[in-house]
Amino acid sequence: MNLVSMKKILITGGAGFIGSHVIRLFVNKYPEYTIVNLDALTYAGNLENLRDIENAPNYSFVKGDITDESFINQLFTDHSFEAVIHLAAESHVDRSILDPLSFVKTNVIGTAVLLNAAKRSWKDMEGKLFYHVSTDEVYGSLGETGFFTEETSYDPRSPYSASKASSDHLVSAYYHTYGLPMVISNCSNNYGSHQFPEKLLPLMINNIVHSKPLPVYGKGENVRDWLWVNDHARAIDVIFHQGRLGETYNIGGFNEWKNIDIVHLLCSIMDKKLGRADGESAKLITYVKDRAGHDMRYAIDATKLNKELGWEPSLQFEEGMDKTIDWYLANEGWIQSVTSGSYKQYYEQQYTSR
Ligand code: NAD
Ligand code: TYD
Repeated sequence: MNLVSMKKILITGGAGFIGSHVIRLFVNKYPEYTIVNLDALTYAGNLENLRDIENAPNYSFVKGDITDESFINQLFTDHSFEAVIHLAAESHVDRSILDPLSFVKTNVIGTAVLLNAAKRSWKDMEGKLFYHVSTDEVYGSLGETGFFTEETSYDPRSPYSASKASSDHLVSAYYHTYGLPMVISNCSNNYGSHQFPEKLLPLMINNIVHSKPLPVYGKGENVRDWLWVNDHARAIDVIFHQGRLGETYNIGGFNEWKNIDIVHLLCSIMDKKLGRADGESAKLITYVKDRAGHDMRYAIDATKLNKELGWEPSLQFEEGMDKTIDWYLANEGWIQSVTSGSYKQYYEQQYTSR
């Protein structure tokens, strides 16, 4: 697709983990684009994540909720966006088990509201693009072998993945029914700086620092495919500019790890960094009750993205982990600020007497 004319881009969820990395990449790399970041600043959104670029001339922030239809329609009228990169979502599986309806509201209704606003405002669809950022969890759970490809049938099993699958289907429906130009990418688990410490890696890093128990669900044998968040942002850049309309691209790290092995790796790297005796942090590992409906294994086949658009991960996992741990150790103030409020209640509800 040729997006050379594309100048004004709405990025939703830009104050979150992945969104902040995408915004930073686009604002710095494309000074000729105007980037508007729309974010409701839920518990997961934090403008601290964007301090370094907040005064860039091609960047602005709007606080708002993607489920607010009249507000979103007015935003599209005011700005004449030529493209949307949609990342805003409720994103944590454990929270979706506690409160599924908020996931349906944001991820399903919110996506539908955005699609409808784009359809209303794009009288001429030429040169427009709705880029929907999604997850590999829509494909369900793998056994010991095999990979998710773009042809794998959807089989979501958590309220989170079901809401993301539903949003993917809506995006596809707007393409087929109304000709709304779109592209979807489904990515594996991300790690890196600025990730909210409800997710596995930052939660464990934070608990190791504070010598708190490391809650491993079940036997710790579930497998995830980990990708450095900056490599996800690079993939989004490539797909946004060169992807084929109406297509889906899988993004993954070719980097599978059992949860327990990752936790051991974290413990041993952090023992060294914190000057602890070898094996000290691993004593904190505590096996806890498994997550309900816990998907066993995710593994992405990203061959299409590699062959068609030449993308591949840039960083080895151990190097990425090292950078990530260093970032959390150097940014204790960030962790303190995001864990000080409602996080405490969430943590208690999720982990006390588990
Ligand atoms: P995140 O939870 O860190 O950030 C989500 C952002 O969306 C926050 O800034 C939040 O304030 C905002 N938001 C939530 N509800 C909103 C609403 N109603 N209106 C406007 N803004 C709202 O999530 P993330 O990990 O950065 O994930 C971003 C996207 O990437 C999501 O769509 C997620 O499904 C997808 N994804 C995530 C991963 C991963 O490993 N984290 C992997 C693949 C795909
Ligand atoms: P998570 O980071 O929540 O990502 P997702 O569920 O979307 O893959 O969890 C990654 C894996 O780590 C998953 O198998 C669940 C497991 N896990 C734990 O064992 N303990 C924890 O405290 C958390 C948050 C996750």
